[in-house]
Amino acid sequence: MSFDLVLFGGTGDLAWRKLLPALFQAFRHGTLPAGGRIIGVARDDLSNAQYRELIHSRFADVDLSKRPSPEEFDRFAAMLEFLRVDLSRPDDYQRLAASLRERGADTVVMYLATAPSLFTTVCEQLAASGLNTPHTRIVLEKPLGHDLASNRAINEAVRRAFTERQIFRIDHYLGKPSVQNLFALRFGNALFEPLWRRENIANIQITIAEDLGVEKRGAFYDQTGALRDMVQNHALQLVCALAMEPPINAHADAIRDEKLKVLRSLKAWTPETLGQHVVRGQYAAGKVQGEDVPGYRDEPGVNPQSTTETFVALRAEIANWRWAGVPFYIRTGKRLAGRDARIVVSFHPAPHAIYRSPSGEANRLVIHLQPKDGLELHLLAQGQELRQASKGAVPSLAPVHLDLDFDKRFGSERVGAYERLLLDVIDGRLNLFVRSDEQEEAWRWVEPILEHWRNDAAGPRPYAAGTWGPSAASALIARDNFCWNEEC
Ligand code: BG6
Repeated sequence: MSFDLVLFGGTGDLAWRKLLPALFQAFRHGTLPAGGRIIGVARDDLSNAQYRELIHSRFADVDLSKRPSPEEFDRFAAMLEFLRVDLSRPDDYQRLAASLRERGADTVVMYLATAPSLFTTVCEQLAASGLNTPHTRIVLEKPLGHDLASNRAINEAVRRAFTERQIFRIDHYLGKPSVQNLFALRFGNALFEPLWRRENIANIQITIAEDLGVEKRGAFYDQTGALRDMVQNHALQLVCALAMEPPINAHADAIRDEKLKVLRSLKAWTPETLGQHVVRGQYAAGKVQGEDVPGYRDEPGVNPQSTTETFVALRAEIANWRWAGVPFYIRTGKRLAGRDARIVVSFHPAPHAIYRSPSGEANRLVIHLQPKDGLELHLLAQGQELRQASKGAVPSLAPVHLDLDFDKRFGSERVGAYERLLLDVIDGRLNLFVRSDEQEEAWRWVEPILEHWRNDAAGPRPYAAGTWGPSAASALIARDNFCWNEEC
């Protein structure tokens, strides 16, 4: 099957940091269909050879498992071309159209790795140049808008040119092997399903912690903040994967229908819950991995009086029979104590104690998303005590855990998120992409938080870089007599 992949924003950060390395990995793994062409599109004035050279030099800064040899890179680069396009000029789209027509590939993928403010223009121009043919697919990077209205406007514009089945909205968390294993855990195994409900589960915590700051994206991030950058998409997609009903099959719409129901069941905010169940923070100077780092307001591109949040912790509830009353805690932030994304499913303690066990101990399933990828099942067992127990004493239990490391089990060179998602786009598999109604529901749910913050003069709570965020986040969960994973 031949394909043309047109990379709008072909010289941008996302292209050389993530997309081209992912395509290279697929090429190296032999999974990228032969007969492909990748056309980098941007305003720069580059020849094909200069574009290949640019990408080659940028690869030096990319974390590839093994450096490509010059021969290997050349074989990959033979697929790379460059086309100078000014996105507002119809003539430039005509040149693109001519190049695509000439080759007549079976599939054409338009990857919009540009600022979302350009999505509407690009789609209109693609349609005007006849580039919205039935064998064309369009890939949209997040963020898709900054609120519900702007998200809808983009979706409507894109749908005027393409049908929903041609639109691939990326949430790269869905491409992570660890997230696919979460689906596999739930829907490929019968073991947990009977337990997966309010009768057995006390609470679920989702932490997506980063130790990095805003890096070179200060200006973008300052307009965005953690709620839009991480919660509206990545964290809520994880909530969906955890809380959805088993889909009737593994087809895209069966999965997306179930995810949509979860988003629709998220309990609506009230003035009280907005006040008590949401914490926003912003990092101040501190130490990360032993190094002094500046505060958020001193980062390049950030307004020195910025009130943008770099941390969010919140308590959500899902109002349905399976989950009523079970808190779902979400926490994400930059410049935290480490890079750690994990889900902790805490079960209720045994209903009647016949052993002595450490207070508060109960079974927990820890799903490590990154950097570790694996599962830990925390159980209680009798160890040393068995030998030491004196006659008649109540035996006591200690925590132990079963540990499954997917990197060890399957090898660490596994298919990365972007690699997986790009291959899915080329093959036309929509399972791991987000439908417009899911996205809109997620925006609808986060909007009252944004509104509440706009009217809240208190602003975000400062936290020192290198910590786990403001103490209010601990207070949020302590109110329910629970604690964050690292505090328990
Ligand atoms: C992106 C956010 O979507 O996800 C970034 O825009 C964030 O701010 C990144 O750093 C985190 O992705 P990962 O795969 O490193 O967890």
